[in-house]
Order: sequence, then structure tokens, then C-alpha cells
Amino acid sequence: MTALDSVTAQRLCHTALLRVWRGDCASEGMDAMSAMYADIPPITKYIVPQKQATKRNYGSHQYFTKRAWNVIQGYIERFTKPGDVVCDPFGGSGVTITEALVLGRKGIYLDISRWATFLAEQIALAPVDITNINTAFTKIERACAKKIHAWQKMSREDVESVPLTRWYPQGKPLPKNADAALVEDLFTYRQMLCLSELYHHVQKLKDQVSRELLRYAFSATLYKCNRTFISAQGRAESRGGSSIFSIFRYKVAKRVIELDPWDIFARSVRKLIAAKRETNLLIGERPGGSSNAQFFTGYAQRLTDHVPPDRGPFPKRGDANLAG
Ligand SMILES: C[S@@+](CC[C@H](N)C(=O)[O-])C[C@H]1O[C@@H](n2cnc3c(N)ncnc32)[C@H](O)[C@@H]1O
Repeated sequence: MTALDSVTAQRLCHTALLRVWRGDCASEGMDAMSAMYADIPPITKYIVPQKQATKRNYGSHQYFTKRAWNVIQGYIERFTKPGDVVCDPFGGSGVTITEALVLGRKGIYLDISRWATFLAEQIALAPVDITNINTAFTKIERACAKKIHAWQKMSREDVESVPLTRWYPQGKPLPKNADAALVEDLFTYRQMLCLSELYHHVQKLKDQVSRELLRYAFSATLYKCNRTFISAQGRAESRGGSSIFSIFRYKVAKRVIELDPWDIFARSVRKLIAAKRETNLLIGERPGGSSNAQFFTGYAQRLTDHVPPDRGPFPKRGDANLAG
């Protein structure tokens, strides 16, 4: 397979953001695509970002550099037609692929991070059964909410005498510039006790779709329940964020705040459900829903390993041999 070199991949992605396979003309290659771009006038007007106006985009999960959905929509609408394929090989939290689906395009997503790929897949996924998510949530609530609340109320000495019996990541090193050596050092004993209990019950869920979605909500919970969380001054204690998303480094807070992981999880699930109601309507009601998107984890420079440049990952009309 041919691979794009790093510089070419970066140039392609950052100058145009979106790579487009227009209808069935993928085989015409990059030159033909560049010529098509030349005909489209660039966006010259500032698009005012509206980050908070959608549930799918705002609040359900933090990410380093989430782009505003309406700015991405502006680009997709300008440079593509319904049915075209939009590709973001630095996909991150999946704003591009989600908005491509919302606008009736197909999408290709790639990111170097398995975690980012997971987040993007969950947020684009539609339709999903909201009743199943609620049922799964209630099951977990019955299994561990009371226990977590009780641990939350104990003194530090008492809680540290409760044995930690559930799985948690052990011995996983952090980057050298982190304030802690291991992932487990990013949590107080109480946080690890509560979070490992919660994760245990999420993992036990039989319904795979609900389990993955609640793992997404669990991941959002981790963002607030760790020793790097800094509470925003003058606001509710739970307002604030983890250092990794603001200064890109695991910096342990001077004053560690132990928010109740059950409350944070419950709020994350409510936000997830609000996001899923939105994507059910905007993506799930379109033919094929989110199956019009393909997700890959890997290097953008090796995009063509996943997406053959001569045809892309979607079958052409009448081509029975290509997987959809
Ligand atoms: C600026 S963020 C993208 C944010 C995205 N637009 C969003 O709205 O969430 C850049 C992403 O590129 C990913 N990345 C960095 N180097 C990469 C590479 N060589 N190949 C693929 N992905 C890469 C990072 O993991 C990160 O998620």
C-alpha cells in the first residue's frame, strides 16, 4: 500500500481540513480532486463558533481541541454535496465525522489514539435505543450507587481501610513530564476505590451498545474525579477541569477535590442521553445512520492503508465485491 509522507498528510489536512471523494470519482486521483477544489470559492466570512448550542458537541465529553460544530458544518456544506465522503485523518473527538453524518455525507475518521477513536465512535453512533441505556444505568445504580455514596462520606482513615478488590490499571507509566509516575498515582485511594467499583459494574453489562456508551460516560467521569482536577474559582465545586486538557500535562492540583464519582457519572449519563437523543434524530433517521461512517485508529501518514486512494472504503454503486 502507498503511504502519504508526514508532510504531505499534514499539508493536505491542514490546508483543506477535509479530504473529499466526490461521488464516484475517487479513481480520478488527487489531481482531479485538486482541480475540483479550485472551482469552489474559499470561505472568507468569519463563522461565529457556537460550541454550546448542541448536546452532541458540548458537555458530553471533554477533548483537547474540540472544534465548533457549526464551523465544521460551514466547511462541509461549502466543499461537499450530500452523499460525498468527508475524511478527517486527525479526527479527535469526532466533530467532523459527526457533522458529516448530520449533513447526509459519508465519513472517514482516523486518529492515532484508540481512546479518541472510541469517543468519536460513541458520539456518532445512531440510532441507539435510549431505553436500553436507561435500563443499564439503573442496573449499575442499584449495584453500586449507595456503596459509593457511603465511601464518599467516610473519613480518609476509614475509607483507606476498605480493601480495593476491583480491577484498576496498575503499573501503567505516565509521560516523563507528569507530576506522578503511574496512572494509579493520579487518583486518591477513595477515588480509585469508587471508580474501580463503578467500572466493574459498567463492564458487567451484557448489552454491548449500552456498555460502550456507559464506558464513554465513565471516561467523562474520570475527567473530574482525579488528582489533577482543578475546581473553577467562585463557581460550584464540580465546575472545572483536569490539567491534561488545559496545559497538556498531568499536573496534580495543590488542593485535591474529591467529587462524588456516582454523582458525576449520573450527570455524565444524563448528558450522554441528551446527546444520543440529538444524534438519533439527526443521524439515526437517515438511511444507514452512522453505518455511513468508517473509523480507523492509525497514523494519518498511513491513511491509504485503510482507505485505498483509488476507491475509498465505501462500495460504488453496482460493485458487489466491496465491503460497505
Ligand atoms: C487538533 S486534534 C483534532 C481535534 C478534532 N478536530 C476535534 O474536533 O476533536 C488533533 C488530533 O490528531 C491526532 N493525531 C496527532 N498526530 C496524529 C497522526 N500522526 N495521525 C493521526 N492522528 C494524529 C491527535 O490524537 C488528536 O486527536
